Amino acid sequence: MIRSQSYCFRATIIIHLFFSLHLLLNTFASHTQSLCRQDQRDILLELKKELKIPNDEYHVISWNTTLDCCSWWGVTCDAKSGRVISLDLIIESANVSLTSGSSLFQLRHLRQLVFTHGNLQGVIPSSIANLTHLTCLDLSNNLLVGEVPASIGKLNQLIEIHLSGNYLRGNIPTSFANLTKLSQLVLSENQFTGGITVVANLTSVFNINLSQNNFKSLFPPDLSGLHKLGQFVGSRNSFFGPFPSSLFMISSLFNIELNQNKFKGPIDFGNMSTSSTVRVLTLGYNDLDGPIPESISKLGNLEVLDLSHNNFGGRVPRSTSKLAHLVTLDLSYNKLEGQVPHWLWRSSVFSVLLLSHNSFSSFGKSVEVDDATWLNELGLGSNSLQGPFPQWICKFKILRTLDLSNNHFTGFIPQCLNSLQDLNLRNNGLSGSLPDFNNSDLRSLDVSRNSLVGGLPKSLTNCTSMQLLNVKGNKINDTFPFWLDSLSTLMVLALGSNAFHGPIYQPSTYLGFPSLKIIDISNNSFVGSLPQDYFSNWSAMPFVFSDEEYLSYMEDSTMYKDSINLVSKGVATDFVRIPVFFKAIDFSGNGFSGQIPESIGVLSGLRLLNLSGNAFTGSIPPSLANITILETLDLSRNNLSGEIPRGLGNLSFLSNINFSHNHLQGFLPRSTQFERQNCSSFSGNPKLHGLEDICGEIHVPVPKSQQHEEYLLESEEPLIHWVAVAIAYVPGVFCGLVIGHIFTSYKYEWFIAR
Ligand SMILES: *[C@@H]1O[C@H](CO)[C@@H](O)[C@H](O)[C@H]1NC(C)=O
Ligand SMILES: *[C@@H]1O[C@H](CO)[C@@H](O)[C@H](O)[C@H]1NC(C)=O
Ligand SMILES: *[C@@H]1O[C@H](CO)[C@@H](O)[C@H](O)[C@H]1NC(C)=O
Ligand SMILES: *[C@@H]1O[C@H](CO)[C@@H](O)[C@H](O)[C@H]1NC(C)=O
Ligand SMILES: *[C@@H]1O[C@H](CO)[C@@H](O)[C@H](O)[C@H]1NC(C)=O
Ligand SMILES: *[C@@H]1O[C@H](CO)[C@@H](O)[C@H](O)[C@H]1NC(C)=O
Ligand SMILES: *[C@@H]1O[C@H](CO)[C@@H](O)[C@H](O)[C@H]1NC(C)=O
Ligand SMILES: *[C@@H]1O[C@H](CO)[C@@H](O)[C@H](O)[C@H]1NC(C)=O
Ligand SMILES: *[C@@H]1O[C@H](CO)[C@@H](O)[C@H](O)[C@H]1NC(C)=O
Ligand SMILES: *[C@@H]1O[C@H](CO)[C@@H](O)[C@H](O)[C@H]1NC(C)=O
Ligand SMILES: *[C@@H]1O[C@H](CO)[C@@H](O)[C@H](O)[C@H]1NC(C)=O
Ligand SMILES: *[C@@H]1O[C@H](CO)[C@@H](O)[C@H](O)[C@H]1NC(C)=O
Repeated sequence: MIRSQSYCFRATIIIHLFFSLHLLLNTFASHTQSLCRQDQRDILLELKKELKIPNDEYHVISWNTTLDCCSWWGVTCDAKSGRVISLDLIIESANVSLTSGSSLFQLRHLRQLVFTHGNLQGVIPSSIANLTHLTCLDLSNNLLVGEVPASIGKLNQLIEIHLSGNYLRGNIPTSFANLTKLSQLVLSENQFTGGITVVANLTSVFNINLSQNNFKSLFPPDLSGLHKLGQFVGSRNSFFGPFPSSLFMISSLFNIELNQNKFKGPIDFGNMSTSSTVRVLTLGYNDLDGPIPESISKLGNLEVLDLSHNNFGGRVPRSTSKLAHLVTLDLSYNKLEGQVPHWLWRSSVFSVLLLSHNSFSSFGKSVEVDDATWLNELGLGSNSLQGPFPQWICKFKILRTLDLSNNHFTGFIPQCLNSLQDLNLRNNGLSGSLPDFNNSDLRSLDVSRNSLVGGLPKSLTNCTSMQLLNVKGNKINDTFPFWLDSLSTLMVLALGSNAFHGPIYQPSTYLGFPSLKIIDISNNSFVGSLPQDYFSNWSAMPFVFSDEEYLSYMEDSTMYKDSINLVSKGVATDFVRIPVFFKAIDFSGNGFSGQIPESIGVLSGLRLLNLSGNAFTGSIPPSLANITILETLDLSRNNLSGEIPRGLGNLSFLSNINFSHNHLQGFLPRSTQFERQNCSSFSGNPKLHGLEDICGEIHVPVPKSQQHEEYLLESEEPLIHWVAVAIAYVPGVFCGLVIGHIFTSYKYEWFIAR
């Protein structure tokens, strides 16, 4: 039993204002005088038994019978009467629940009940209504499975209800309509369903947080009675129907978060008074359409506006220039067109400006840039922008993230981008050679699918924070950048489809890549053989992460959160945070010879291995069977001989296998994974047996001419198309003005098309 950090802060203060002076005097006056009442002590001890609180050293610091029960950890008494008025505990013992007869409900004078971040299970008993003095109820982050009892509606002194992070379901009881003193209703991260008409009766409510539930209803048409409502958070539910205009009639509101719902149709702020106090409005990931109305300028205090992932079309209205306080504007993933509004570049307060995935076609004739701009993140990817690289971007002195990918920009990449953290120029028509990046902050550089020539600049060795380098699909003519192995943070290296040549191993200098998770050097002219211990020092690869571990890691690790927070939105959608669990090696389409290194078996976290289209000889290393989560294995078009190791039959995730066009012999391993493959996965190995189940009764070796045809067909198919989408809420601070939770979406796409 540990004292928790509760939400009932306000209530605590209130209680202390009225009662603590007495208590303080008592405490200082004498240590001998006990405040503890026998009856209250007995109830507490009974409760300790019920909640199976162990008597170990760690817990006993708290409830020691030789001490005054009012000084027990988490217990607060009324200084006058000695009655327990506040309980504030984390119930750590597994599998305990509150029964309707629990001694807890005999603590009739409780004003504050806080059991959080524990293992409390079962339902909330309806006898909670016996605690008629309760002002704050905080049972958040437990395992309460079940409906909320209607009897809570009788607790008409309640000021705060915090039930987030449980497994509560059903409707919000209609009896909540009686909670006229309620200021905070936090039900986020549960499984509540149904509608929310009852909130219209909560006339004192300040904060409503219903995010991450299954609420599925139209929005209440009249919320005009909620004169004190400051924030309404209803994101990640299934609210549907038209734009919830009733919210905008509430003059006290400053925070409206309704992203990830099913609102449909146009938006309109027409009837609203001109002095809106709304500072944060998120409507991303809905089904809203029509133009962005001129009336949006009525939200003159907006600091954060997220209309992303909807179907808004037309031009951005002129009136948006009146939104002089905007710090974050996200209009990405819509159908907006025409000119990128020129006033955006003149605003000095912008920090994040995301316009990617629209149909913007130009910047207008001349762009004037405010030199004093705070612009930190600029996303213009996946539009129809063209012309030479927009040099005026060089004026954004503190820009950290720039995404111009998937447009039609041409010409040279300027030198001025040296101070960026994340740069994505993928899929344009950029030419010339890659400029110097001598910057220890650079984290990701994606210039893939352009027409860059020359070599990789050596200055990249100084980019000691680099995590991703993608130059795939250019005309870079260079030898293997051995010097990159000094970049201890490099996780993704993609050099594929260029004119790289020479060996990838140098006996004297080779160190391995300690953090590398994905390497793609396919379709180049690398040659030579690899020593047996080639992969031994690739220490990041062996680390196996299950998807569940990954998710909990993402939630728990502050380090990881910090770093994604910096990438934030927009640009992140393209090169993004690499899922920790995805690891891949693609060496295909080069001229490698010799044996496949036995040390490949140490890369136990590998999901994809493609060594096809080389000249590897010898047998398939049995150590491959140690890569238990391998999903794709392509060894086709080499000179491999010998038998297929039996152990590969045990790889239960192996779903794509291609061993065709080698000199393999013997029998296929018996396993469903092998039997599910197409015949073509093994063709071109005349001495391979056991293919009857796959290829039909009699295995007829494929004639040479057909082999060629088949090879061509295969090579046109995408071998892998892998997409992962992770969605996370990330705490965000924008220029110290808005401290909220800004929706962030991350998406990583990995295409290896042959
Ligand atoms: C309770 O406190 C007394 C006095 O501080 C101490 O001697 C005793 O060991 C404690 N009891 C337990 C069970 O920790
Ligand atoms: C928890 O309690 C339930 C019902 O009393 C029981 O079925 C279950 O096995 C218990 N689980 C653990 C982990 O003790
Ligand atoms: C709740 O109060 C009722 C009557 O007011 C009483 O009969 C009942 O025993 C109480 N329940 C608990 C668990 O104390
Ligand atoms: C609200 O309170 C009134 C008066 O105390 C009571 O009559 C009514 O039943 C309550 N409503 C609900 C829904 O609990
Ligand atoms: C809730 O509000 C509705 C509509 O204003 C009203 O008819 C109803 O009586 C209210 N319920 C309570 C319990 O106050
Ligand atoms: C609402 O609840 C979600 C989920 O618990 C939380 O992440 C978020 O911070 C809350 N929003 C506000 C504005 O308090
Ligand atoms: C404005 O008022 C009209 C007529 O009362 C109504 O139909 C419309 O929905 C209102 N719009 C908003 C945004 O409240
Ligand atoms: C690279 O950056 C370092 C540290 O900022 C600086 O001292 C050095 O002069 C730079 N070198 C080049 C070639 O720009
Ligand atoms: C790397 O940085 C050092 C100083 O930190 C500088 O002297 C050197 O020129 C840089 N190397 C390249 C290739 O820019
Ligand atoms: C790469 O550069 C070398 C030396 O400049 C040249 O001989 C070779 O033809 C180039 N290769 C390609 C594929 O352009
Ligand atoms: C291989 O790279 C060349 C350019 O170097 C490109 O034209 C070709 O499409 C690439 N082939 C594949 C299969 O990616
Ligand atoms: C495979 O793993 C086992 C145990 O994990 C180990 O003993 C063995 O040496 C490994 N085999 C290879 C070929 O790496």
